[in-house]
Amino acid sequence: MSKQYKKPIIIANWKMNSSFEHCELWLDGFFNNFYQNSQKFRNITTIICPQAVLLDFIDSEIMDESLENIEQSMAEHNYKINNFNEKDIDRLLIDEKIIKIGSQDCSPELEGSFTGDISPKILYEVGCEFVILGHSERRINHNESNELISKKIISASKNNLKVILCIGETMNARENGSYKQFIKDQIISSIGNNKDLSSIIIAYEPIWAIGTGRIPKNNEIFEINEIIKMTIDYLKKQELISENLDLSIIYGGSVNSENAKSILEIEWTDGLLIGKSSLDIDEFAKICLISSEINKQ
Ligand code: PGA
Repeated sequence: MSKQYKKPIIIANWKMNSSFEHCELWLDGFFNNFYQNSQKFRNITTIICPQAVLLDFIDSEIMDESLENIEQSMAEHNYKINNFNEKDIDRLLIDEKIIKIGSQDCSPELEGSFTGDISPKILYEVGCEFVILGHSERRINHNESNELISKKIISASKNNLKVILCIGETMNARENGSYKQFIKDQIISSIGNNKDLSSIIIAYEPIWAIGTGRIPKNNEIFEINEIIKMTIDYLKKQELISENLDLSIIYGGSVNSENAKSILEIEWTDGLLIGKSSLDIDEFAKICLISSEINKQ
C-alpha cells in the first residue's frame, strides 16, 4: 500500500477547560511561536477545539491576527490589501488562517426546541471549519450511540463542517480480543450509509489511553490504522460511501512532546488529537514543531 504525503493535522481538544484569561495567553503564545517558525507551521494544519462559549472570542482574535499577518506579507511584496475585493480577502483569510477552529460536538438538528444543544449551522457561522463527534467522553457521559453520531455526521457535513470522528475500544474489549470488530462496527454504523460525505478525519482514541499516561505500542496503533483503512475500502467497494471520500487517520490519548514523533512516524497516522498537553501552549507548540519535521515520503 503506498500513501500520498499529507500535512500532519494537529488538534487541540481543550475539553471543558480554559478561561478567557487562559485563552488570551495561549493565543499570544501560539502567535509568537507561529511568527518565529512560520515556515514550519505552514507544514502542518493546526486546529483548536475549545468550549463552545469561547469559539466566537477565539475566532475574532485569530481573524484579526491573520489579517494583520496577510497585510504585512503583502506590504513586503509592495501589495496593498485595498487592491483586493472582499471575496478575495475572505478566501485569503480562510486559506491563511493562522490556526483553524473546531467545535467539540454539535446537534444533529439545525434549529428548534433543543435546549442546551448547539446547531452545526451556527458553529459554521461562528467560524468553525471542524467538529469533533463521537468522543468517548460524550459516548460515556451522554449515552451517545453510533446511530446518533451518524445523524450528527450527516448534519455537520451538510453544514460545511469537516468531521473528526472519534473511535476507540475499552480496555475490556482490548483484553478479550473483541476490539477489532468493535472498531469496525463503530466506523460502519457511524458513516456506513453516507454517500454525500466527501472527507473524514478518523481519530483512534483507545478509551484506556485517554488522560491515563498509557499509550498503545506503535504496532498496535498501526494495526488499528490498517483496520480503519480496510473498513473504509470495504464501504467504498459496497458503494455505501463515496469512492472519493478523503480519509485521514489520527491518534489521540496521552499524546505529549515526548511521544509525538514516534506516533506520527507510524504508517497511515496523519496527525494527533491532543487533550491535556494542548492546554499548555509551550508543550503544544513543541508538538507542532516536532510534527512539522515529520517526513514520511
Ligand atoms: P488526552 O486526551 O490527551 O488528555 O489523553 C485526548 C482526548 O481525549 O482527545
